[in-house]
Amino acid sequence: KRGPEKLEVAEPPNRLPGLAPLLPTDPALYSGPFPFYRRPSELGCFSLDEQRQYHGDARALRYYSPPPTNGQGPNFDLGDGYPDRYQPRDEAIQERLDHLLRWLLEHRGQLEGGPGWLAGAIVTWRGHLTKLLTTPYERQEGWQLAATRFQGTLYLSEVETPAARAQRLSRPPFLREFMYMGYKFEQYMCADKPGSSPDPSGEVNTNVAFCSVLRSRLGNHPLLFSGEVDCIDPKAPSPQPPTCYVELKTSKEMHSAGQWRSFYRHKLLKWWAQSFLLGVPNVVAGFRNPEGFVCSLKTFPTMRMFEYVRNDHDGWNPSVCMNFCAAFLSFAQNTVVQDDPRLVHLFSWEPGGPVTVSEHRDAPHAFLPMWYVEAMTQ
Ligand code: A3P
Ligand code: MG
Ligand code: MG
Repeated sequence: KRGPEKLEVAEPPNRLPGLAPLLPTDPALYSGPFPFYRRPSELGCFSLDEQRQYHGDARALRYYSPPPTNGQGPNFDLGDGYPDRYQPRDEAIQERLDHLLRWLLEHRGQLEGGPGWLAGAIVTWRGHLTKLLTTPYERQEGWQLAATRFQGTLYLSEVETPAARAQRLSRPPFLREFMYMGYKFEQYMCADKPGSSPDPSGEVNTNVAFCSVLRSRLGNHPLLFSGEVDCIDPKAPSPQPPTCYVELKTSKEMHSAGQWRSFYRHKLLKWWAQSFLLGVPNVVAGFRNPEGFVCSLKTFPTMRMFEYVRNDHDGWNPSVCMNFCAAFLSFAQNTVVQDDPRLVHLFSWEPGGPVTVSEHRDAPHAFLPMWYVEAMTQ
């Protein structure tokens, strides 16, 4: 099925007289049929270790190991080990696309899709695409995406907004502990080797990550992106990545119909967008009580999440998310015309408004590292 071409291209983009073009984000503008999205296929992977060092292998991949289902449910203390057994990643270090670029540099000779495929592709993180997917419904947090065209390829790299930076620097202690708890849940649910059991006695080090690198296509936009994967299910029906991957999430225990409704409208949208893009079929949620213990688990199949909001007037629609993303990618492709690794088009969005663009050269916005540009120019 082909996507709605008329929605994909903001052509001609909305333009205030004499000003740069704008891309609107109202959901009503993007409610056409679901666009084409190629089943994501894994091209490779890499790992980041305890010191955040890159390794071109799957050493950081963990194995899904849920507790036995013998009567009593789980009783995971998500506060255990905080803060003494916590090594948080230094969020002040902006890694931009660097790890993904290293993978790409080392594998550019072996990419499928034929010669020239990369030159027509968009390279980014899955997390950046997730933000695009949820934009038509987002009412709280804006974003900024830096875009550079180099040897044909369009690179998209998120820039931390001033508001996000201010929030990060003034994050209250309770929020720091909530962040820890999400990772602690992973430790209770994952083993280091297939067939072994989780070991919650160790440290939680959020430098460690396993990243899958995938190829897909949205409408006529070939995509190469990478996303962090929580674990692989050794018992998955198909051992082929990404269908054997599992996404783990925590959420507050819910007691009223209103709490569930709000969960479906807001959290499930983010969970769906993140896992759908990468082709992860299941999200396993741990619900924590006010004392910070997970006492129940529930599996949400990614392809069934929309059912919870299908009949909700204030729900979300996957077509809107994907059509908006396709429209943004067309908007970016049409805006970033000049091929120049030092040139950046900065796309900015705040809730309630359209996406705007500004142009920048070199520091601080240029994000393709010299080692990458030079190696690619050889
Ligand atoms: P939860 O989502 O279970 O709360 P991910 O789910 O994407 O694998 O991320 C793992 C954990 O990282 C999250 O667990 C959360 O604790 C933390 N985290 C991820 N993104 C975050 C964000 N934008 N703000 C705060 N914490 C975040
Ligand atoms: Mg994760
Ligand atoms: Mg997770």
